[in-house]
Amino acid sequence: MTKPKHHLFICSSVRASGEPQGICHKKQSMALLSYLQNEVRDRMLEGVEVAMTGCLNLCIRGPVMIDYPSGLWYQGINEGAIDAILDALEEGRVAEEYLIKE
Ligand code: FES
Repeated sequence: MTKPKHHLFICSSVRASGEPQGICHKKQSMALLSYLQNEVRDRMLEGVEVAMTGCLNLCIRGPVMIDYPSGLWYQGINEGAIDAILDALEEGRVAEEYLIKE
């Protein structure tokens, strides 16, 4: 595998203990991970990989998703947000409405 152009990580809320604690998993972030994986596959996006991550310590804005190597962080992730973010990614722009700017 080559380094992805966009590596999208959705917070699973998992802590070091292995237990999910926090907002993101309570707002179905694991189902959103599946949705994101399916969308990336259905859109046949080249160079886009998807993974989950532990708590990103920005729980109040969850579900949270980050994009590396761009370093963009997104908040309030739901299926509509994923659609908007992937649309923007395909068009070479950023989905500003979900972007964490501070
Ligand atoms: S649970 Fe997702 S940022 Fe903390």
